[in-house]
Amino acid sequence: MKILRTITEMRAAVREARAAGRTVGLVPTMGAFHEGHLSLMRAARAQNDLVVVSLFVNPTQFGPNEDLAAYPRDEARDAALAEAEGVDILFAPTASEIYPDGFATSIHVSGITEVLDGAARGAFHFDGVATVVTKLFGIVRPDDAYFGQKDAQQIMVVRRVVRDLDLDVRIVACPIVREPDGLAMSSRNVYLDERARRRAVALSRGLDQASALAADGFRDALTLTGAVRRMLAHADIEPEYVELRSLDDLSPVSELDGEALLAVAARVGGARLIDNHIVRFEGEPPAGEQS
Ligand code: PAJ
Repeated sequence: MKILRTITEMRAAVREARAAGRTVGLVPTMGAFHEGHLSLMRAARAQNDLVVVSLFVNPTQFGPNEDLAAYPRDEARDAALAEAEGVDILFAPTASEIYPDGFATSIHVSGITEVLDGAARGAFHFDGVATVVTKLFGIVRPDDAYFGQKDAQQIMVVRRVVRDLDLDVRIVACPIVREPDGLAMSSRNVYLDERARRRAVALSRGLDQASALAADGFRDALTLTGAVRRMLAHADIEPEYVELRSLDDLSPVSELDGEALLAVAARVGGARLIDNHIVRFEGEPPAGEQS
């Protein structure tokens, strides 16, 4: 595995691969790898000839009161893990390589960025994500790019950018990887002390319960979000949001019909955690039809 730090080197490597007719898969990350990241690398490895993982803790997507300085960084460990997954190139640029003096462009997606994490963290967050991901697509020019469903809104934002700017890349969404007790894996889980780690399972437990209610035919948003809120309250967790939203445009859903995104964010101890389920109400099959 090569570690590349400059855009020039990265472009040259991709150009060579493309000239040889090889397909390119990109996994954008901020490092501190866990099984969630590794699952994206495996998916990319299975589907592409050249696999590029970017490792860049993108400063523009962090707010002034967020954890940019504290964000876990261990490039040597990450490089070893990526290499073990058969990654070909780790692209680990400096901040000034990505944002040289005079950098002045920002990609802003309206609408879907104004709710959930966009509302809770501020508009800068998804502007930062959309801009850096668009730059990574411009630098690597991947055929496929892999993202985790853990950050469901992020995937929707990236898909919107790809559609609106006619970027020639296929976005692949990969399932959420969880700890054995259900907690969604996150680089930020290292901020949880022992007690907070035990309480944190309430997010996934609440979502499990809401999914079970939906499968039993409960369709009312307040019933489903209420199940999550109750589980959080038991663990003494005050959520930032618990919301049922449309998978098309993140508009609020009051009555489940088909599929919708049930998303939760909460501060637990020293960590801000997010999680989600796609909840389903299948409905009764129409009379006379076989199910
Ligand atoms: P980061 O938080 O490092 O996540 C990198 C990718 O891993 C994202 O697509 C994220 O959804 C995915 N991921 C994280 N936890 C996961 C889990 N438990 N299961 C499955 N996938 C998981 O997301 C970012 O970085 C940044 O915003 C980035 C897209 C790199 C732009 O800076």
